[in-house]
Amino acid sequence: MKVGILTGGGDCPGLNAVIRAVVRRGLEFGYEFVGIRDGWKGLVLGDTVPLTKASISGLLTKGGTVLGTSRTNPLKNEEDKEKLLQNIKELGLDCIVCIGGDDTLGVAAELYDMGINTVGVPKTIDNDLSGTDFTFGFDTAVSIVTEALDRLHTTTEAHHRVMVVEVMGRHAGWIAVYGGLAGGADLILIPEEPFEMKDVLRVVEDRKADGKNFSIIVTAEGAFPKQAGGIITKDRALDAFGNAKLGGVGELLAQEIEDKTGLETRFVVLGHLQRGGTPTAFDRILASRFGVAAAELIEEKNFGRMVALSGHDIVNVAIREATSKTKTVNKEVFRVASIFFS
Ligand code: F6P
Repeated sequence: MKVGILTGGGDCPGLNAVIRAVVRRGLEFGYEFVGIRDGWKGLVLGDTVPLTKASISGLLTKGGTVLGTSRTNPLKNEEDKEKLLQNIKELGLDCIVCIGGDDTLGVAAELYDMGINTVGVPKTIDNDLSGTDFTFGFDTAVSIVTEALDRLHTTTEAHHRVMVVEVMGRHAGWIAVYGGLAGGADLILIPEEPFEMKDVLRVVEDRKADGKNFSIIVTAEGAFPKQAGGIITKDRALDAFGNAKLGGVGELLAQEIEDKTGLETRFVVLGHLQRGGTPTAFDRILASRFGVAAAELIEEKNFGRMVALSGHDIVNVAIREATSKTKTVNKEVFRVASIFFS
């Protein structure tokens, strides 16, 4: 059995731990492995690298992805699609392990329908992929946000300021809610609940009236005011999957708060800091479990499936099902976080 492995979309702490685990378990079954460089792009170009026990050594703790990644959509035009199918044939791949979020796995689902054996591993720091309780990388991102909020608290309080902290979360506010709850945010704004600017101002002013002379507001990059009717972007460019480059809501909020309340306000965009560096213990373990389970799905010839976490168990679901809708924030956790607002 010759197995290709690729990592696609935004990188995520734990990708290398998955690669290591798939290869370690697969070698026990006697498989040969080929790493595909830069996601689907590598399969269009035929750009691959052998993966052996020696080459995956030391990957458990390493951030990023040794295979590289891209947001290439190989099914966007016929020419790329033909090249991709030809390369799968020429490389003699019996199966492709696709480690990615909804875009990468959406392609894996399409290919499976076209008769290519694919197995999915759910990846995104945003944790917005359906079919799994958690994706690896999310816990690391939440830890980074929590540490940032702890640090921002001391400086914000010392200067009696309002601090707006913009975190990642394109379609869902998981990082904002978990990070904000862990870091003691006074207000959390998420894409699932469009906000009214007057409510934001009220929180800041109520806190001042209560004698608290600082406030920390966490906003997901995909949050937006009701009146705006949709996401805030700084630039109109779209990637190959049609995703906009988000950003700007933190700055907009900070400007508005300072203008309307007269309180000194700053904003911080945590950006790619949330995706870099070594994974937490939780993510190393989840990534290793996912990788082992993915190799075992191949051995069972259970293709078109994605490994997933359900409670404490590793299960599998149809890739198509996982990519069919966005997993929005757990309402109970958001309710708990909101008890601490203002
Ligand atoms: O999809 C994951 C993600 O981290 C989003 O939260 C964010 O909007 C996006 O990637 C950023 O992408 P890029 O690295 O291409 O700027």
